Amino acid sequence: MNKNSIGIGLMGLGVIGGQVARVLLERGESLAEQVGRPVILRKIKVLEQDLSRPQAQEMEPYLLTTDEDDFFNTPGIDIIIELIGGEEPALDYQKKALLAGKHVITANKEVIAKHGAELVAMAQKQGISLSYEAAVGGGIPLIMPFKRDLVANEIKGIYAIINGTTNYILTRMSREGIDFASALKQAQQLGYAEADPKNDIEGIDSKYKLAILASLAFQSRIRPDDIYCEGVSRLSNRDFRYAKEMGYVIKLLAIAKQSDGFIEVRVHPVCLPEDDFLAKVDGVYNAIMVEGDLVGKITFLGEGAGPLPTSSAVVADVVQVARDIVLGAGCRPVKRPQLDKEIKKMSEIVTRYFIRMNIADSAGVLAQIARILGDNNISIASAIQKEADETTKTAEIVIMTHPSQEKGIIKAVDELNHLDAVKEVNNFIRVEV
Ligand code: HSE
Repeated sequence: MNKNSIGIGLMGLGVIGGQVARVLLERGESLAEQVGRPVILRKIKVLEQDLSRPQAQEMEPYLLTTDEDDFFNTPGIDIIIELIGGEEPALDYQKKALLAGKHVITANKEVIAKHGAELVAMAQKQGISLSYEAAVGGGIPLIMPFKRDLVANEIKGIYAIINGTTNYILTRMSREGIDFASALKQAQQLGYAEADPKNDIEGIDSKYKLAILASLAFQSRIRPDDIYCEGVSRLSNRDFRYAKEMGYVIKLLAIAKQSDGFIEVRVHPVCLPEDDFLAKVDGVYNAIMVEGDLVGKITFLGEGAGPLPTSSAVVADVVQVARDIVLGAGCRPVKRPQLDKEIKKMSEIVTRYFIRMNIADSAGVLAQIARILGDNNISIASAIQKEADETTKTAEIVIMTHPSQEKGIIKAVDELNHLDAVKEVNNFIRVEV
């Protein structure tokens, strides 16, 4: 295609949008060399209330518009970068861009996880591209490796720490023995967690990211609603203490794996052996372990969020798409079969379990507990009893089971909670080895 330049329209000028705009403007020369044409930022769509923010003040006023029509009607835009986040109006804007024949680049995990298949189909129909490298793992290359470098493999599994905020919180709880509320507060003070941290701590952010990775890995359509999701807010510093005594570290993992012809997709806290690579990934870092039948186990590690790493991925997409435009390559055909693989019910999964409970400290109680577990086909691997409280005559016990089926555990926990001698089953955590 004989174009003199590649024009960019940017939607959203928050911290990520501001950084992407900065890279496009400050590294224009190097980008032009890599693309073979100047890459020109032509318009930025901002919200009225964002005009006073520092990143808006940095921009030449002619670049900024608060008017949607003005933005979409700006001449010479080939690529639209959507960095608004959230489902709407971002989804609407992406569709509008694709229908207008503009290539779309986004970091929006919610939109891609929920509507990716529909958007890809729209883009393919138009012969244009939809790129979303920054949607998972910030600057860590993941989407391209799944679309290109790993395609010869049958992917056996993905085990991922893909939410930096929760990994920071769990690291602080584990290292310092502080409780969840204090660790969350510190994460918020450092700007890691949002003021409303629900999406991070309830595992929803990880669920969106896993839906994207699992759909690519298994050439299937995995919807966020297909994924079992449990966050970290139920974890107590006692869980960390006892897990450590048993040689385990607790992490929030996003897991997608093939087992017995089914796909398992789940996000929940996990006890990992302390010498496992993922157990050692601390702070805001993300790590994504992928197992393919040819490549074996490989792990991607890095900063999974923040303006600098995210801008790295977004601008890489810009260069890739711009090169394709220059070469007249149109959309990169990623026409992989959308197989509908069956997803295993959570009740059918099998793992080991760590169960912590408060019990009456009196004769025969352990025997009653062992009977309930045995009746539900749950075999005890080890147990520790702790801190008998003289005044209340209670003790805390932690049981590690052999591999057991989830439905047996759920039933046993319910029965234990109805036992007079059990004050409360405080928590149970799945174990991955
Ligand atoms: N809130 C996410 C995290 C970053 O903490 O990892 C954006 O995906």
